[in-house]
Amino acid sequence: MWAMAIVTLGVGMAALGYLLFRTMEYRIVEWRKKLPPGSMGWPYIGETLQLYSHSPNSFFAAKQRRYGEVFKTHILGCPCVMIASPEAARFVLVSQAHLFKPTFPASKQRMIGPQALFFHEGAYHAKLRKLVVSSFTPDGIRGMVSDIEDLALATLNSWEGQKVNTFMEMKKFSFKVGILKIFGSREKLDMDDLNESYLTLEKGYNSMPINVPGTKYNKSMKARRHLSKIIGKVISERRERGEGDNEGPNFLGTLLAHKDEKGGRLSHEQMVDNIIGLIFASRDTTASVLTWLIKFLKSSPALLDSVTAEQESVRQQKSSLDYKLTWEDMKSMRLTTRVIQETLRVATILSFTFREAVEDVEYKGYIIPKGWKVLPLFRNIHHSPEFFPEPHKFDPSRFEVPPKPNTFLPFGNGMHSCPGSELAKLEMLVFIHHLTTKFRWDFDESKTGVQYSPFQVPQEGLPIRVERK
Ligand code: HEM
Ligand SMILES: *[C@@H]1O[C@H](CO)[C@@H](O)[C@H](O)[C@H]1NC(C)=O
Ligand SMILES: *[C@@H]1O[C@H](CO)[C@@H](O)[C@H](O)[C@H]1NC(C)=O
Repeated sequence: MWAMAIVTLGVGMAALGYLLFRTMEYRIVEWRKKLPPGSMGWPYIGETLQLYSHSPNSFFAAKQRRYGEVFKTHILGCPCVMIASPEAARFVLVSQAHLFKPTFPASKQRMIGPQALFFHEGAYHAKLRKLVVSSFTPDGIRGMVSDIEDLALATLNSWEGQKVNTFMEMKKFSFKVGILKIFGSREKLDMDDLNESYLTLEKGYNSMPINVPGTKYNKSMKARRHLSKIIGKVISERRERGEGDNEGPNFLGTLLAHKDEKGGRLSHEQMVDNIIGLIFASRDTTASVLTWLIKFLKSSPALLDSVTAEQESVRQQKSSLDYKLTWEDMKSMRLTTRVIQETLRVATILSFTFREAVEDVEYKGYIIPKGWKVLPLFRNIHHSPEFFPEPHKFDPSRFEVPPKPNTFLPFGNGMHSCPGSELAKLEMLVFIHHLTTKFRWDFDESKTGVQYSPFQVPQEGLPIRVERK
């Protein structure tokens, strides 16, 4: 009884001492260096509770109103500096990018694959990035228009007369497009097996990283092992067939064909981690944006009419009923392209990204200490009335003139910017063409909520009812 009380008291004192120590520590650091303004909240717990009790977006916006474009805070156990101006974003992502490295929790790196390019910097990152970029340039993806179109049509035809969950359906669509680009159209894959393993892996992504049997994390790691085995089998088969890329310009072909100056090839793990990494980077991002696109279009009837008219005029240039879209058709979809840009701006599904200062960095007289996280806040920039007047209005015409440099960063900027942006846009254009020319859809307009899964999507993933026109 007494022993218990003493132990409790002791633990209490130690905790209090620790809190005081952490408070002092920050005071001293603050006194010595010129940190950006901002409040660090309670030591250790920092402002994490505030972050989660508000929506993250209003949390950052309120901070920015109070402290300006660069401010410090303390979330998830890390002191960090948030930046919310185009100029600061350019500093961190482009001009001084070598002073800021990517940073992800180790548990997430293990789950996606530690060798995936986005965890890296320097020579390894540059090598892998070159392979990814070359595979996803306009020339690398123009041959995919027909295959993407078939997938879009199959999806849409399955919606006829149904009530469907838009986000779930878009996840399936972008997953299939991703698999197609990675493996090529002729690879015979067990899609169900791939799909199931990937779904299990994903379920554990935001779970507590406790790797004992029965936990979500452990199940995810197991699914990852299985996924790695499936991909490994494809790699071995292709190697046996002679490595070369004789099945069209798919990403695995590019990886298999790669040789460095000394003739060295990528390892099995490097290929597997980068393939899982690409699925991860491409699926929910594209699916979230497509879901918002379908919502925004329907929410402005006049705009939907204009987009439909633009798509009808593409169709009218075709002679047969079962026509095929071409890469050139995409260029004539000018209004639709602006609608996609405006969707990327308004929805900003990647609200921010993370970097870590590799040394003490000075920015505009402030010190960003080594080891601190730095978060460029894309959403705040996209929603600033200074760069986008009436920022909450959905108005694609604002993209009739190009946005000012570094004010529009839906795909990031600099050496870690998104290599998949062209593919994502192609998927959306093709999908919108067939959706607007052949179908009508509606949803419960009273449901205006937003959910995080993990990117922002409309409430419940936007259930819609679909009819053929
Ligand atoms: C509309 C859909 C998409 C959006 C909004 C998006 C957004 C982004 C953003 C903002 C970044 C930069 C992150 C940072 O700087 O920390 C990024 C990186 C990346 N994205 Fe995307 N992305 C999309 C689709 C795709 C697709 C389809 C692919 C498939 C190739 C892809 C592959 C990647 C990869 C591999 C990286 C990391 C690049 C590196 O670290 O060098 N993304 N994406
Ligand atoms: C993947 O599996 C889920 C759940 O079993 C299913 O609903 C979905 O249609 C599958 N997706 C693909 C791309 O096969
Ligand atoms: C699951 O947990 C057990 C016990 O910690 C561990 O030995 C095993 O490797 C884990 N499974 C995976 C796939 O990581």
